[in-house]
Amino acid sequence: MADDNKPVEPSAPPTGANPAATPNTRPVPGGDEPATAAAAAATGVSTAPAPAAAHAARPAAPPRPPAAPIPDLAGKTTTAASAGGAQARAAAAAPAAKPAVAATRDPDDTSPLLTRRAWMGLAWGAFSAASAAALAATGRFMFPNVLNEPPQQFKVGFPSEYGMGVDERFKDKYGIWIIRTPDDIDQHASGFYVLISVCTHLGCTPNYLSAESKFKCPCHGSGFRLTGVNFEGPAPRPLERARVVLADDGQILVDKSKHYQRELGQWIDPEAFLKA
Ligand code: FES
Repeated sequence: MADDNKPVEPSAPPTGANPAATPNTRPVPGGDEPATAAAAAATGVSTAPAPAAAHAARPAAPPRPPAAPIPDLAGKTTTAASAGGAQARAAAAAPAAKPAVAATRDPDDTSPLLTRRAWMGLAWGAFSAASAAALAATGRFMFPNVLNEPPQQFKVGFPSEYGMGVDERFKDKYGIWIIRTPDDIDQHASGFYVLISVCTHLGCTPNYLSAESKFKCPCHGSGFRLTGVNFEGPAPRPLERARVVLADDGQILVDKSKHYQRELGQWIDPEAFLKA
């Protein structure tokens, strides 16, 4: 009598069967590979499943967990799906972007010219710069250069500081000679007169020639005596004299704004000669 409780040993595979063709005993949902494998084992034909079939036999991957909520700046939590929807709504609500400048141009126009707006900007800039330059030039015209001329009135020291004859100390600075004479030809007195060092021909500056006791013009040779009277050359008239008086402090005050001409009889004026 056989023991029903004895474990049944598995039957050995058929001789000559491919060990690699061991039936796949893993259950495949809805498949009939086990039966096919058993049949193949019985017939001795290798029925090793193809790699794709083996891959398909693997259990399905578990579903991914839902995406974690994303907190936004307002403190709200938004899921990825809702965030994507918000972006889509925002994109739909946003106004259509302005077309690029290049898109507004003629597609056949390949020249690098500026747009009309840029040209207008350049034109206005050039016009503004020209207007500013013209205004600056006008302002400059309203304020001409200052001509620093020597003063017309100035003191030349005390009478006691002068000897008889011609003093040239103020010729270069003020354009005058100061002459002290014992007897003036028109005033008939001793004292001072001031000659303007400008030739009455064409305005050159004569030189004092002490050896010849005269003033000689280097331009055309006019000569003047120490009194200022012309005696040679083209000069048509004597040199002019300047106003000369005694200042409050006792110094000699010369005033070049006032001239005296002998041919006009002005050398007899009291202020054309300083008696001393
Ligand atoms: Fe003096 Fe002509 S300018 S002589």
